[in-house]
Amino acid sequence: MKKIWVGTSWKMNKDTQTAEAWASAVLPSLKHCSSRIQPFVIPPFPYLQMVSSLLSEQLIRVGVQNICWQDEGAYTGEVSPLMAKDCGASIVEIGHSERRAMFGETDETVTLKVHAALRHGLTPLVCVGDTAQEKQWGVSAESVIRQVKIALYDIPVESLTQVVIAYEPVWAIGEHGVPATLEEAQTIHQAIRSALAELYGANVSQNMVLLYGGSVNLSNAGGLIEQPDIDGVFVGRTAWEADGYSELLSIAERSGS
Ligand code: PGA
Repeated sequence: MKKIWVGTSWKMNKDTQTAEAWASAVLPSLKHCSSRIQPFVIPPFPYLQMVSSLLSEQLIRVGVQNICWQDEGAYTGEVSPLMAKDCGASIVEIGHSERRAMFGETDETVTLKVHAALRHGLTPLVCVGDTAQEKQWGVSAESVIRQVKIALYDIPVESLTQVVIAYEPVWAIGEHGVPATLEEAQTIHQAIRSALAELYGANVSQNMVLLYGGSVNLSNAGGLIEQPDIDGVFVGRTAWEADGYSELLSIAERSGS
């Protein structure tokens, strides 16, 4: 049986105290988590080491929200994959729509970062999504598949199952976002899965992890997880409080059982 991934990125939120409080508060739920679940948390860089050491004995994986594609050198303000790894990260979020919209992330930098992450044994978590306008034009699947293809360009086939893809419709993310319906989410996930099968074969496609993100909440999480092509959820606001995250873990645990 495939694992169900349940993760959160804190984006640019929390401070030392609230980061530590979150980690301590989710500990009991993590201790009870079955091996069917793959929990993960992606704090801002300054709290990475603390969160990863507080949770080091748990199944949870810790990640970073971005990396540089270079290992070291004159790249002021950047964090290399080696540094992320050194501080406890095993996952790298790449290409979130906020980075694409506000910080100059492009399909080209996304693929460079996917290669860099894999080079160092980090799991790239590649975010792809359609805008509201693309949805209106009826080109959501094309847009998302294009992003996936570029992100995975020139990745050796044997490394592909190390890559996690998160479908995050831009129109579904954040306070003004409208969550995708179960059907909308499954339709795009299925389109991604079929495109991967066409490119790399059914076996690779079936073994790649595809997550849904964008206004996931305690009411829709269970239904999303149960969709045939959705392997888990990548959550913002609902998981920033420890109680919300713990509840999402319980929902995942109950699903399909
Ligand atoms: P949200 O954020 O759950 O708060 O909508 C999701 C995301 O940006 O990954």
